[in-house]
Amino acid sequence: SCALVAASDRINCYPEPEGNETTCMKRGCHWCVTEDTKVPFCFYNSKHGYVITSQPQKTQLGWRVLLRKRDNISLFGDDISPVAMDIEFHTKNRLRFKIYDPGKKRFEVPLRIEPPLNAAIDLLYDIEVTSEVITQFRVIRKKTKTVLWETFLGGLIFSNQFMQMMTAIPSTTIYGFGEHEHPSFKHDMNFIQYGMFSRAQSPVQAFSNLYGVHPFYMCIENDFNAHGVLFLNSNAQDVTLSPYPALTFRTIGGILDFYMFLGPTPENVVQQYTAAVGRSFLPPYWSLGFQLSRWGYNSIDVLKKTVGRLKYYDIPHDVQFGDIDYMERHMDFTYDKTNFAGLPEFIKELKNSGMHYIIVLDPFLTKDEPQGIYKPYELGQEMGIWVKNSDGNTPAVGKAWPPGYSVFPDYTNPRTVEWWIHMCVEFKRILDFDGICIDMNEPTNFGTGQMPGCDKNIINYPPYVPDFLCNY
Ligand SMILES: *[C@@H]1O[C@H](CO)[C@@H](O)[C@H](O)[C@H]1NC(C)=O
Ligand SMILES: *[C@@H]1O[C@H](CO)[C@@H](O)[C@H](O)[C@H]1NC(C)=O
Repeated sequence: SCALVAASDRINCYPEPEGNETTCMKRGCHWCVTEDTKVPFCFYNSKHGYVITSQPQKTQLGWRVLLRKRDNISLFGDDISPVAMDIEFHTKNRLRFKIYDPGKKRFEVPLRIEPPLNAAIDLLYDIEVTSEVITQFRVIRKKTKTVLWETFLGGLIFSNQFMQMMTAIPSTTIYGFGEHEHPSFKHDMNFIQYGMFSRAQSPVQAFSNLYGVHPFYMCIENDFNAHGVLFLNSNAQDVTLSPYPALTFRTIGGILDFYMFLGPTPENVVQQYTAAVGRSFLPPYWSLGFQLSRWGYNSIDVLKKTVGRLKYYDIPHDVQFGDIDYMERHMDFTYDKTNFAGLPEFIKELKNSGMHYIIVLDPFLTKDEPQGIYKPYELGQEMGIWVKNSDGNTPAVGKAWPPGYSVFPDYTNPRTVEWWIHMCVEFKRILDFDGICIDMNEPTNFGTGQMPGCDKNIINYPPYVPDFLCNY
C-alpha cells in the first residue's frame, strides 16, 4: 500500500481520531504506517471522486455541470449523487463555484452576496473542467497562467453530514483561517489541521479553535500576485494544509460554496472580499485611544483608585471599561447599588473630564428571578425572543454567570433587535455608557448542550466531529 500513493498525495480516508487497519480496510481504503505521524495512514488515491454526466450547460452567470459519484468508497454513508456544480462569473476579479444537491434544498448561509444579472466579461481568470478518471476543475490566472485551484488530487465527497473538497494551490504562502492560535501569520503546510467552531477558549493550546470563525484565506502566488478564497459555510468544519501544497476543506452540513477574489495585490483581494461580505465599520475616533479593561474591581472604590493612579502617574487613559462585576449578581441591565453605589455619577465625572466608558453585556439572561423583579427577562419572554428547542416553542436553557439557569436571545430574530435596542436605550438613561463590549457571545454555555441534555440524534451526535476542542 505504501508504494501506491506518495505520502504528500494521500487523501485521508479516516479523518476521525481512532482509525486502524481494520476500520480503514472496511472503507475500501489503503493502510500504510509512515514514520511521519502527520501523514494519513489510511488513505485513498485520486481515482475516487465524481465524474461529469453530460455536457456542461451554459447559465445566465456561467456554467452548470452535473456530477455522479464514480466509486463505492464511502466514509460516513448517505452519499449524494448526482450533485450539481455551478460556476458563476460575478465580476472580472470575482468568481463563485458551488456544489449542491440539485434534488433537495440544503442549508445555505443567509449572507446575500449580490450576483450580477449576467456573467461578467474581461475576466482575470479562466476556468477549465476536464473529465478523465474523475472530473477536475481548475481556475487559472489568465495573465500568468498560474493555476489557483486544481482538484486533480480527487477527494470530493458530498454526503449528508460530511462534505469534502480538496484542491492543489500554487504556493505555500497561505494566511488566514481565523481564529486560531498559531506561531506565525504564514501557515505551516505540514498536514496542519484547523477546526473551525467558535468557542470561549483562551489561547492555551496550539492550533486550537478560539472565539470566532472566519473561513477565508489569502494565498500569495510565487510571482507575488495574490488571491483570496472564502468558503461560505457556517457548519462545524476543519481545514487541512498539506505539503503538496494542497488544502482539504471538510464540513458537516450545508453545501460547498466558494468565492474566489483574484486581486492581484493583497490590498485588492481585501477590497474585493469586503465588497462582497461587507466592510468593517468606521470606529469612533475616541475608541482608538488608550483603553483599560479588566474583570474584578469588585467595588467602585477600587475602580476610582485605579483611574486615580493612572492619572497620578500620567499614564494615557481615554476609555475605562466595567466588566460584569459592576452588575447586580451578574445580571445584564443592572448595576450593583451596594458595591458600585454612585457608579452613574462617577461615569458622568469621567465623561466630563473627556473620557469614555464602556460596559460589558453578556448575551444570556437568568430566567429564575421571582416574578416582577427582572424586567429584561420578562420582556424578552413576552416577546418570544429566546433561542428555542427543536420543538420551535420552548426556550433552550443553559447555565452561565447569572444565578439560576439562563436563556439566550436569538439575534437572528428581528424582534430580538427591538428588545435589545429597547433595553440598551433604557439602561443608558441609568448608566450613560459610550460603548458596549458584548462578551461571551460565541455563545457561551457552562454546560454541555441545553438542559436537561441533548436529544440523541444525528444532528447532536454527527458521524464525523471536526477537529476542534469542545465540551462534546
Ligand atoms: C480497530 O478499531 C475498532 C473500532 O474502534 C476496534 O473495535 C478494533 O478492536 C480495532 N482493531 C485493532 C486491531 O486495534
Ligand atoms: C466496491 O466495488 C468493488 C468493485 O466494483 C467491489 O469489489 C467491492 O466489494 C465494493 N466495496 C464495497 C465496500 O461495497
